[in-house]
Amino acid sequence: MKCFSIKGLLAILIIAFALPFSSTAAERALKIGLGDPIDSDQGVLALRFKSIVEKTSNGRYKVDIFPAGQLGDEQKMVKDSRRGSIDGAVVAVNNITPFAKSVGVLTLPYLIQSFDDAVTITTGELGAKWRDILIKQAGVRVMGWSYSNFRVLTNSKKPVTKLSDLKGLKIRVPKNAIMIETWKALGAEPIPMAWPETFTALQQRVVDGQDNPHITNYTMKFYEVQTYTSEVHYLFSLQPLIFGEKFFRSLSPEDQAMFTRAGIEAQQANLLFSVTESNKAKQNMINKGVKAMDIVDEDKWSQIAMDKVWPKFYKDVGGKQAVDDVVKALGR
Ligand code: MLT
Repeated sequence: MKCFSIKGLLAILIIAFALPFSSTAAERALKIGLGDPIDSDQGVLALRFKSIVEKTSNGRYKVDIFPAGQLGDEQKMVKDSRRGSIDGAVVAVNNITPFAKSVGVLTLPYLIQSFDDAVTITTGELGAKWRDILIKQAGVRVMGWSYSNFRVLTNSKKPVTKLSDLKGLKIRVPKNAIMIETWKALGAEPIPMAWPETFTALQQRVVDGQDNPHITNYTMKFYEVQTYTSEVHYLFSLQPLIFGEKFFRSLSPEDQAMFTRAGIEAQQANLLFSVTESNKAKQNMINKGVKAMDIVDEDKWSQIAMDKVWPKFYKDVGGKQAVDDVVKALGR
């Protein structure tokens, strides 16, 4: 895997400082839901956004955050943001793609191979492309991205260090067709399930395991119900802060610019947090008794994923050329 560089951060900063601030007028409270707990990387993104908005608007806006699925599961929060019954949410991109199939590119297994790739794919021209598609197809606008790192595999049944260990393993997956097909192709038994049901399903052994980044796994307290964590790199988790586009359009140009800038700065804070806290979260899992292991034959996993899963979804995501263009933009 490639190393993380600061080029994306610089790009973010350049855009951020080109945008104006606003002042004036009456107060409004925003309702923002999170799928994860407040101490997660989703929480870092939302809290930084809140503090910037409340300070910059001189109290005209208040941002109320409802963490840990209090406003419902992530796919519901996408729908509610679109229809305006909440103002926004931080959710995993895999829970938005059912409403905007072209953005499925971001959940193709082994496409994003590093933090550097994750920044490249979410900023500049590509970042603008996903933003525009999500507005058009899902009715939501990305205000900033959470870079949550790779979704590692946890389970309570057996050590997983190689492909053949996946046989017969029941893995909870989000209701995302690409992820379901990926785990099937790798030989596991994927069970689609909404995120808020996951902890109980692991606890009651309805499923053996699940995949999410270390920070998510630790803040969700999965160490209480999981025994093993395996360092898989099939999917880099991106979790955007979205606003309902209707709500965004209802704002004055000055306030749109203020929120846009707040999102970019929150994204930058989140990136620094995830880069530094991921390994700590993994160590915290180990300290709680979870056994950590590497995968010895991950080249086989990536080969299967790219050969068997990608072609099945070319049509959904806008054609093979659309995927090739992203791969090229990532320098491969
Ligand atoms: C999921 O697995 O559904 C999400 O990635 C959970 C999350 O938001 O962390």
